[in-house]
Amino acid sequence: RHVDISPEAASKGGYPHFMIKEIYEQPQAVRDTYEGNVEDPALGRVSSAILSANKVIVVAAGTSYHAGLVFSSLLARRAGILAHTIISSELPYLVDSIDGGDLVIAVSQSGETYDTLEAVRKAKERGAAVVGVTNVLGSALDRESQLRLYTRAGPEIGVAATKTFLSQVMLLELLSIRAGEASGRLRPSEANELLRALREVPQVLANTLEASDPVATALSKGLSGSAYILGRGLGAAIAREGALKVKEIAYVHAEAYPAGESKHGPIALVERGFPVFIVATSDAREVAGNAVEMAARGARVYVVKPADLGLELEGRESITRIDMPPSSGVLELEPFILTPLFQLLSYRVAVSRGYNPDKPRNLAKTVTVE
Ligand code: G6P
Repeated sequence: RHVDISPEAASKGGYPHFMIKEIYEQPQAVRDTYEGNVEDPALGRVSSAILSANKVIVVAAGTSYHAGLVFSSLLARRAGILAHTIISSELPYLVDSIDGGDLVIAVSQSGETYDTLEAVRKAKERGAAVVGVTNVLGSALDRESQLRLYTRAGPEIGVAATKTFLSQVMLLELLSIRAGEASGRLRPSEANELLRALREVPQVLANTLEASDPVATALSKGLSGSAYILGRGLGAAIAREGALKVKEIAYVHAEAYPAGESKHGPIALVERGFPVFIVATSDAREVAGNAVEMAARGARVYVVKPADLGLELEGRESITRIDMPPSSGVLELEPFILTPLFQLLSYRVAVSRGYNPDKPRNLAKTVTVE
């Protein structure tokens, strides 16, 4: 028997690809990110800066942009502050609105993405203060920033971001809780309760991976053509990340929409058998209505939800409920419960069709050019 002991095989630690290894490293990555940040005074400094800023602007690209959307959803809820989350390459066209009282939070796992660095430089020219959120100490973003926060995901080799995404989510959730506390909207006891819930994420995530993988394998056989992934509130951000994974790794055209917007156009494409995934989060039970609406048009609807989230979906046999571990209504747990299915689905589709999930065509791990 041939035993592959090349350095590359060794570094995959027994997994066939880096992507699947990194998906399964997520419990550790989020644990390290939690422990490395929960008591860090930098989190307090950044929350004070958020509270005293005129405007809070989050800039990021790709998957990091989706972590930014999760952040703005939770910051609004916990601290009552609206953060504008903007795609880095679009910031130049909005930069005239930025000035010295504003805070720019740049999220980039590599800290080297050209568009994000350019956005930061332009915002700095206008006098804004910059917080860098990165996984790489000493990266260009790290050096450009006045305040710094670090995820602790370890190196990520697969082109598609997986463990760095959920680590960013963990860090930004800690930040929104601290900001909520500083704003007076969250009582210290409520903040502590949320922090206690986040401490359980590594276990929740391990359970989620176990629950998701067989479902992903089963679903991977029927996924082709195109699909919608819909959600509201926090679910809309998770849906976007899900659709990006499915596009970039499985080469299936998946489009995410805020579910409420789906009737303003997208629903026209829905016909018998069209796959629609609904990402149901506890801030937005209204997605049940969208699920029923899609099913009524013949769509093959999959509702991905925490097991304990009750939704009114009766009478629709074409709606499949995909129950993930429970969240007890703690919104902060839900990105960890609902994201892995889409990571694993895209991975299982890629592998079953002979695509290399670690090196999807036309994509680079870090885009350092315009
Ligand atoms: C590339 C990668 C994505 C990543 C994006 C932003 O497009 O393929 O996985 O999300 O860059 O990277 P960053 O390092 O700035 O988070």
